[in-house]
Order: sequence, then structure tokens, then C-alpha cells
Amino acid sequence: MKLPSYKEARSRKKEKVVIEEYKMPKSINKMGHNKTYYVKTYGCQMNEHDSENIKAMLEELGFIESLDMESSDLIILNTCSIRENAHNKAFGMLGRLKHLKETRKDLIVGLCGCMAQEEGVVDEILHKYRQVDFVFGTHNLHRLPIVLKNYLDNKKQEIEVLSVEGNLIEGMPVKRASKHKAYVNIMYGCDKFCTYCIVPYTRGKQRSRHKEDILKEVKELVRDGYQEVTLLGQNVNAYGKDFDSNYKMENLLEDVAKTNIPRVRFMTSHPWDFTDQMIEVIAKYPNIMPSIHLPVQSGSSRILKLMGRRYTKEEYLELFDKIKEKIPNVSISTDIIVGFPGETEEDFEDTLELAEHCKYDNAFTFIYSPRENTAACRLKDETSLKEKEKRLYKLNTIVNKYFLENNQKLVGKTVKVLVDGHNENGKTELFGYTDTNKLINFNGDESLIGKIISVKVTDAKTWSLDGEYVE
Ligand code: SAH
Ligand code: SF4
Ligand code: F3S
Repeated sequence: MKLPSYKEARSRKKEKVVIEEYKMPKSINKMGHNKTYYVKTYGCQMNEHDSENIKAMLEELGFIESLDMESSDLIILNTCSIRENAHNKAFGMLGRLKHLKETRKDLIVGLCGCMAQEEGVVDEILHKYRQVDFVFGTHNLHRLPIVLKNYLDNKKQEIEVLSVEGNLIEGMPVKRASKHKAYVNIMYGCDKFCTYCIVPYTRGKQRSRHKEDILKEVKELVRDGYQEVTLLGQNVNAYGKDFDSNYKMENLLEDVAKTNIPRVRFMTSHPWDFTDQMIEVIAKYPNIMPSIHLPVQSGSSRILKLMGRRYTKEEYLELFDKIKEKIPNVSISTDIIVGFPGETEEDFEDTLELAEHCKYDNAFTFIYSPRENTAACRLKDETSLKEKEKRLYKLNTIVNKYFLENNQKLVGKTVKVLVDGHNENGKTELFGYTDTNKLINFNGDESLIGKIISVKVTDAKTWSLDGEYVE
């Protein structure tokens, strides 16, 4: 049994990260024969992509994916720690699984992802949630087959969580959720330690993948007909800063664009590491989508300092305005936290003012949620939840107004859309995303799925557009 330790997770060791090739021991490759699995994913794209690896590993073991959780032989929850409600969802699901396990004794339940890296969570699993049969963490995802085998051999709760990241694992199998859009990790972990955030503890220190491995993966995707890649990392602009090399995010973006993949996206960008060279490259290559997620978190320089974000309101706005000026037709989205400890009415007004200035195309807004062991959870917080909810409502009213206004400006224009699929109502009711990452619904033949087509915008809503297929 290996349990998580925050003390170890906090340390940033200097050891060189080496690359290790994924290998599944041949002796266990029939373990899942004739059995079904169901993976439930919470959290961010990083977790979604990890689940694509988990599914592929399970299928190598012979398991078959089931769309019905209740009847599956193996259920894995890939969890998220970012806010309390993410926790609650996973614990709620564990409650449901307890009942299910009472009726089906042979059901196997596993838990992984960011919650597995939390000391408190694993402690609860050991003492209260005995229905969980095995736990593995974010640093040893590739060990799933072995952790599962250990559980099956011993039939005792198996917990294997490493608190210090190990090597970079290359060559893990992947079962991609889409045949035309793909996630490609370019880095793991985060060294920023924003004071409210648990990610540096759950994902470890920043480790960039080697450019050769990333480009090889993208080229294979191009060969397989993929239309879009999203380069993933908690802090993609810091790509390469953990190597002693001059090859940085702008160079990687340029090389990925040169593979001629029709669409390149990347997330998430921390304003701190956003260079002028990156802006130039994004503006230069038409296949790098003019859509940037640029989390601001707060419009108050005082709160930004308490958050450890390393920029002031003015510096953020300078970057924001530069991006808008240099990249034609760019859309910018953001994340904002309200009710950070000590946020005054005046601080909040600064956030509203910033939202009015930036007129974001999209924004994810959250009430601050204290996370175990982070620096901010020790700060005094006197604002009531009711007040925080009021602030969130006020902020949402403003950001929503601009989503709609920005969308309305597109009515009558023709936009390029990568067609994702059809909705549940019917096979001809298609949807996709524009260059600027706006959801658009329109009618068309199913055969358009996976293609980039032109759609004329006919109507605008707050969170989506309606259109007509024109070509
Ligand atoms: N790496 C990204 C953010 C990843 S987490 C970045 O730095 O921009 C996604 C978002 O969740 C964050 O941008 C932040 O707005 C929000 N978030 C993170 N920790 C939070 C907390 N403790 N309470 C509320 N929101 C939080
Ligand atoms: Fe969290 Fe900050 Fe790292 Fe983003 S940059 S993952 S908010 S610590
Ligand atoms: Fe959640 Fe972990 Fe992602 S905390 S947001 S799943 S990195």
C-alpha cells in the first residue's frame, strides 16, 4: 500500500525526468476477458484524456466498454479535486456504488485522478468507503493493469498513490473519444502554486514532453485524418521552461502548425508566460485557431497578489489588448473566481470593471472553494456565502450580456465549422465549433460529421449560434 503525502507532493526535486516506454506485462493481458468496464470522468480535459488512456489499457486487458454503468463488471471513477462540488459528486457516486455493490458482490470499483492524490480523501476511502477496491494516482496511471491485478490476486483494498512524479511515460495506448478531434498532452504538472489551487499537489511538478514525441503524435493524427488537435497542459505557455533549451511554446506551436493539421488549439494559457513571439505565431498561421483561453481570476491587483498570480490588473489588460490588436478576429475566454478570502466590495467592483472592458466571448465563473493544504485555505474569510452568491450572479449577468452581444455580431456572416456530431433529437440536427470556438447548431447530412464546412449564422443565443449549411 502506498498512500499520498502532501509533504512529498510539495517538494520540487531537481532530478532529471527521463522517458520510460509503456509496457504491459504479457502475462496479464487476458485479465478482463469477457468482462465489461465503465469509466466515469470528472474534471478537466486532462482527465478526459487520461480516461482515453485508461480505456485503452483496459481494452488491452480484454475488457469491453459498456455504456451502462449499473451492469458493468468494473467501474472506475476518474476524479477531480478542483472545487468542493467536484468532490461531492464523486463521493455521491461512491454512495450509489455502495448500494450497487450490495446487490452485485463481484462488482469491482476503482478510483483514480486528482482526488486519489489527496491525503484526506484516501484516508476516508480506507476507513469509510470500503466499497472502493483499488486506488491509483495521477503519477502512476500506467500502472493500472498491475494495481488491478494486485487487487484481484489478494481481494484486499489496493492503494498505490505516488506523491512524487516519476518518469515521463511515452507510448501509452489511447482510445480517443473522437475520430476527428484529439487531445495531445504537451506537459504535465504545474509549478505556479496559485494560492487557491490544488493542482500543483495533485499533478506534481511541471514536466514538458519532448518535442519529438509530441510532433510524432500529431503527425500520426494527421495521417489518420484528424482535423483538430488541442495541445494540453495546466500552463501550456510555460512549455519547455523545465528543459535547458531555447525551444519554447512559440516554437512548438509553429512546428505543430507546420504539420498541416487543419486546426490547432491549446489550453490553458497562464498570462504570465504569454510571449510576444507566441502572439506572432498565432497570428501568422491560419490553422492555429484564433481562440485563446486566458484566465484572469480577478480584476483586483490586490487579490491577484494574494492569489499568487504574478500579474496586476493593468498587466493583464495590456496583454489582453495586445492579443486583440495583433490577432485578427480573436475570441478570448476566461476563468474568474469570486469571493476569494478578503475580497472586498471594491475588489469585486474591479472585477466587474475588467469584465466590462474585456467583453469576453466565454467565461467560467466560480465561487472560491477552500482546498485542503493550499496557502489560501489558511486565510481569513469573512464574506458570507450568500454575499458570494450575489457577487457571482452580478458577474454572470455582465459576462452573459457580452457573450450574447459578441454572438449577435456574427449573424449574417459565414463561419468555418468543424462538424462534431448530431444531437439527440435527430440525425440531421448537427452541431460543431467555429474557429473562434463557438458552438453552432444547423441542419445537414450526417456525412458532414468530421468535416470542416461553411455555415451562415442565422441567429445568436447567449451560449450558441444557429446557422445554415452553405457549402
Ligand atoms: N491551469 C489553469 C487553471 C486550471 S483550474 C490556469 O492557471 O489558468 C481551472 C479553473 O478553476 C481556474 O482557472 C480557476 O478559475 C478555478 N479554480 C481553481 N481552484 C479553485 C478554487 N479553489 N476555488 C474556485 N475555483 C478554482
Ligand atoms: Fe492552478 Fe495556478 Fe497552476 Fe493553474 S497555474 S493549475 S490555477 S496553480
Ligand atoms: Fe480537476 Fe485535476 Fe483537472 S483537479 S481540473 S482533474 S487537473
